[in-house]
Order: sequence, then structure tokens, then C-alpha cells
Amino acid sequence: MTAATPMPVVVLISGSGSNLQALIDGALSGALPISIRAVISNEPEAFGLIRARRARIEGRVLNHRDFPTRAAYDRALVDLIDGYRPGLLVLAGFMRILTPAFVARYRGRMLNIHPSLLPSYRGLHTHQRALDAGETLHGASVHFVTEELDGGPLVLQARVPVHPGDDAATLAVRVLEQEHRIYPQVVRWFAEGRLVLGPDGRPRLDGQVLAEPLLLDQLTQAQATAAQ
Ligand code: GRF
Repeated sequence: MTAATPMPVVVLISGSGSNLQALIDGALSGALPISIRAVISNEPEAFGLIRARRARIEGRVLNHRDFPTRAAYDRALVDLIDGYRPGLLVLAGFMRILTPAFVARYRGRMLNIHPSLLPSYRGLHTHQRALDAGETLHGASVHFVTEELDGGPLVLQARVPVHPGDDAATLAVRVLEQEHRIYPQVVRWFAEGRLVLGPDGRPRLDGQVLAEPLLLDQLTQAQATAAQ
């Protein structure tokens, strides 16, 4: 994949779409070698659909309430997605549990972002749960998607300190800022062909197995050192 042939990407959302916006901005600036072919939402009122429209990206609604079962919804979703022939499927706040058939179909080419330092705090309400537990460090994780909910192989994490007086909303804002840095970074690696999910189920970056997730602050330090 070269800069001349950007990787086709489909983004799935359910809500605000601020991570989608970070990808749109990256693609527009030329930093990300991707072409977002479609944004698909299960929620008709998702603000991310407006973001897509503003960027002249096709926005599609596939409302889960119109389907009798999860399996029927996911089959329709596959049909819709595959019409765009994506090389990468990006889950960006897509609030649906996926069927095993769906996950298997996109194995190795589906990424998700989760607002916690996985494996801590899978599932919902991560910020409040981290606060309730008295954590001093929280964050966000990008991972390949597997059948295990929020349990797929980790690629990159950003750590966010919990400040005294934080509530779930203030913490969410600071975590989102970091999400908007790590998701474009991982999408870029994938689109450049540098990041793959190996047959052993472990991610490889530039041929190196990631036994542990990378950390954004370490990357930034390494880049700063390399630039000196
Ligand atoms: C983010 O916190 C993401 O980690 C989680 O859902 C939220 C989506 O936010 N999966 P947005 O729609 O990208 O603004």
C-alpha cells in the first residue's frame, strides 16, 4: 500500500464520532494513507453522521431495532460493509456486541478503541469504575478485535493520570484527547502495512511481535531521541 493508493476504510459508530473526526482530519491532512469509504451507524441520530456528511463521506444508518436478532443485524451489516470493500474496519464508539461470525470475517483487519488500560475495565462506565476503585492511572487502548469483548490483542495504549477532584466527565475529556492520538497512529501503521495480526494471534509491528502493548509516552520519547 503506497501513499498513492490509500487503504479503503469503513468506520462504525454509534455516537459523537470524535475518534472518527480524528481519522477524518488525519486523512485530510495527508498524515493517514486512508480513504474513508463510509461511516455506518446503528443510531440514526449519531452526531458522527453529521461529521461524515461535513467531510463528504457517505453516511449510512443500519438501525439494529429493525432486525429481529443480533445475527440478522450482523449479516446485514456485513453486506453493507463489504459493498465498500474495506481493507480495514474501524470501530469508533460502535456500541454493539458483535457475533462470532462477524468477528471471524474481519479477523486481522478490524480495530477497536476502548477507554481504559485494558485488560482493566472491560465493558461500560470505565471512567467511573476507575474512579471508584481509586486508580491514579487510567487511559485508553487500541486493539485488534477478537471474540472476547474488549479482549483482543493490544497494540497501543495511552496513560492518563487521574487528578484529585476528577469526575467521570473530566476524566473522559482527558482520555479522549489521548484516544485521538493513539487511534490515528495505529490506523496509520495498519494502512502502511507495518502492523499485522500474526497467525499466532499476536500483533507484529515492523516484523516485531508485540508481546506487550506499546505505550504512547514511550513512543514519543523514542521519536524525540531519534530526532536528536
Ligand atoms: C470512546 O471513548 C471510545 O473509546 C469508546 O466510545 C467512545 C466513543 O467516542 N469505544 P466518540 O464517539 O469517538 O467521540
